[in-house]
Amino acid sequence: MTSLEKNPFQGGYAPVTEEITAFDLPVTGRLPESLSGRFLRNGPNPLDLEDPHPHLLVDNGMVHGVRIRDGRAEWYRNRWVRSDKIAAALGEKPRSGGISEASSTHVIGHAGKTLALMEAGAPVVELTYELDTVGRTDFGGTLPGGLTAHSKIDQRTGELHAVAYDVARHDRVQHVVVSPAGQVTGVTDIAVTDGPMMHDFALTGKYVAVYDLPVTFSMAAAEAGVRLPYAWNDAHRARVGLLPRDGGGKGIRWFDVDPCWVFHTLNAYDDGDRVVIDVVAYDTLFVDAKLPTGGPPALERWTIDLAAGAVKRERLDDRPQEFPRIDERRSGLAHRYGYTVQTQEFLRQVSRDAQDLSDLPAPAFGAALLKHDLRTGSREEHLFPRGFYAGEPVFVPGDPEAESAEDDGYVMAYVHNADRDAADLVVLSAQDFAGGPIATVHLPARVPLGFHGSFVADAS
Ligand SMILES: [Fe+2]
Repeated sequence: MTSLEKNPFQGGYAPVTEEITAFDLPVTGRLPESLSGRFLRNGPNPLDLEDPHPHLLVDNGMVHGVRIRDGRAEWYRNRWVRSDKIAAALGEKPRSGGISEASSTHVIGHAGKTLALMEAGAPVVELTYELDTVGRTDFGGTLPGGLTAHSKIDQRTGELHAVAYDVARHDRVQHVVVSPAGQVTGVTDIAVTDGPMMHDFALTGKYVAVYDLPVTFSMAAAEAGVRLPYAWNDAHRARVGLLPRDGGGKGIRWFDVDPCWVFHTLNAYDDGDRVVIDVVAYDTLFVDAKLPTGGPPALERWTIDLAAGAVKRERLDDRPQEFPRIDERRSGLAHRYGYTVQTQEFLRQVSRDAQDLSDLPAPAFGAALLKHDLRTGSREEHLFPRGFYAGEPVFVPGDPEAESAEDDGYVMAYVHNADRDAADLVVLSAQDFAGGPIATVHLPARVPLGFHGSFVADAS
């Protein structure tokens, strides 16, 4: 076992050890006056590195946030999500509802609340505006089970959609709809076998697209104490399902795909008698229940031909990359642009001297953000200096009220600044992606590499 398998929380993933509240952060450049809200990001930040089974995907969450208003970065806060275990370790009372697992995968704003999210049946955790943990929420008693980390907002209705799986239920997953007011208004069971992991899904105007891929619950991994007991399963048929949104839960249609793994969707949309889904795909993943076994992730377009009943997979960009995001005003609609972060494998491939990489975290995200123009097939990159590493790029519209161009806005990401050994919040112009940042907010501490986040506008 390599030391990274034994403890993945090294390098850029090394946890921070304290919670910080800092006001009036220094800014280089000018923060756009139109930005009013919080740039939030969740990720694992274990308190106890003596845990015999640390797992990058399910360890204790910490949410980092910068509040922006009137061209100022008013505050930075980082807060552990108070699972019962974390609350006890910090000498605090357990939060309401009981929080068995600390949600560490995503943080969103919905129905005026701030929610920390994770998959596999983990509790949904409500946070305050200042990122303190309120407690577990079941949306006022309306959520029957778990939710998941990756939800989609239907731009027409404001409803939040998710496909939830549960480590304890191997025969079904659930499509869950949450109203703009924060009440669950629909739960549809989808029959599956083997307990497939479903990290993300896709939503179009007509369909919920479900990835039933060959990573499934593994009793052997569970018995070995793996905290997310899922493994590559050659015996599980790989398929993508289209559940009609107007079918009352009936009529899911399955389409075979070559075995592969998908963590993340860029976007999906209906195109006549075809459904187009852009994803980041791996050849395999979780072989023997180990995470870094999937080979490089690449951007692909899956076109489902409803008449022919076939899925065509096309490679859009084989440069290794992850964390695809779009202008979410285009969610479920045809999109032109996509944003990703390149992964370190790319640097390994192009570096002539492996020693050059010793200052990079492994297995981490790399030092460039990518903007894809899927209409022209072109790509722009925003490079950071060696030793810097960037997190997920989040697109924020320049004026959320205006009917503006798809890339009229900003791309924001936490970037580790190796010169300061601390994080910057970098704000790029999406229309001048390779150009210098519009603004850089200098945070007082590291933001370890982590997972997903959101710009939660104050108006929402
Ligand atoms: Fe994810």
